[in-house]
Amino acid sequence: MTHKALVTGGNRGIGKAIAAGLVREGLEVIIGARDLAAGQDAARDVGASAIQLDLTDPAACDRAIDGVTVLVNNAGVLWDDKLFDDMDHFEATMDTALHGPFALIRAALPAMEAAGYGRVVNVSSGWGSFAEGLGGGGAYGIGKAAMNALTVIANRDTPDFIKINSMCPGWVRTRMGGAGATRSPEEAADTAIWLATLPADGPSGGFFRDRKPLAW
Ligand SMILES: NC(=O)c1ccc[n+]([C@@H]2O[C@H](COP(=O)([O-])OP(=O)(O)OC[C@H]3O[C@@H](n4cnc5c(N)ncnc54)[C@H](OP(=O)(O)O)[C@@H]3O)[C@@H](O)[C@H]2O)c1
Repeated sequence: MTHKALVTGGNRGIGKAIAAGLVREGLEVIIGARDLAAGQDAARDVGASAIQLDLTDPAACDRAIDGVTVLVNNAGVLWDDKLFDDMDHFEATMDTALHGPFALIRAALPAMEAAGYGRVVNVSSGWGSFAEGLGGGGAYGIGKAAMNALTVIANRDTPDFIKINSMCPGWVRTRMGGAGATRSPEEAADTAIWLATLPADGPSGGFFRDRKPLAW
């Protein structure tokens, strides 16, 4: 059976590298992009298809998920300001890190249950780790910590054949990470691709970097 994967924010950066990797793994891949033309350009590059998906729109999340059994919640935003400076930044951060991923997982559950198979990868960050100090500007650490909590509790409340994990890609050369970052998007995508294609005895409810467990 060919699994259908959705990668949010797959039009550039780490998401595009994850989409390319999942195509290489033989999955049918859909890139979710808030700018459909950008999504279609990336989809052409990697052999995927594209849909318009803005995580600030819950109805779009419902529409995007039809038949998806592999979900990569990759989209994210980062601002350098302080937590209380800009309410819109807080809301956009929580939409991409928590509300959108929640809505997408919830909408994907019927297809995953029907298939007896599901993989969810939440692209989080070491900045969402209490153990690593909740770094990043403003709301970012709160959003990624909330995403990590979603991973733990979604895993607890779904069947064992659905594997839900968080991962940190490291510091990556993308628009978010900047040109001085230490990793390529392809290196960063490796752990996400691994988690999206885990075998039946693979881990679930965990947090990983470089395929190794990371402290919450
Ligand atoms: N780069 C790093 O060093 C690093 C480190 C740790 C974790 N991460 C995480 O890795 C993930 C990917 O980051 P990246 O470095 O590849 O960043 P990026 O190049 O800035 O890409 C972010 C992606 O998210 C999309 N996006 C933002 N808001 C969205 C929304 N409301 N709805 C749908 N899509 C939205 C963007 O779409 P547009 O093109 O339309 O803006 C873009 O496709 C993020 O979750 C980030 O927090 C990155």
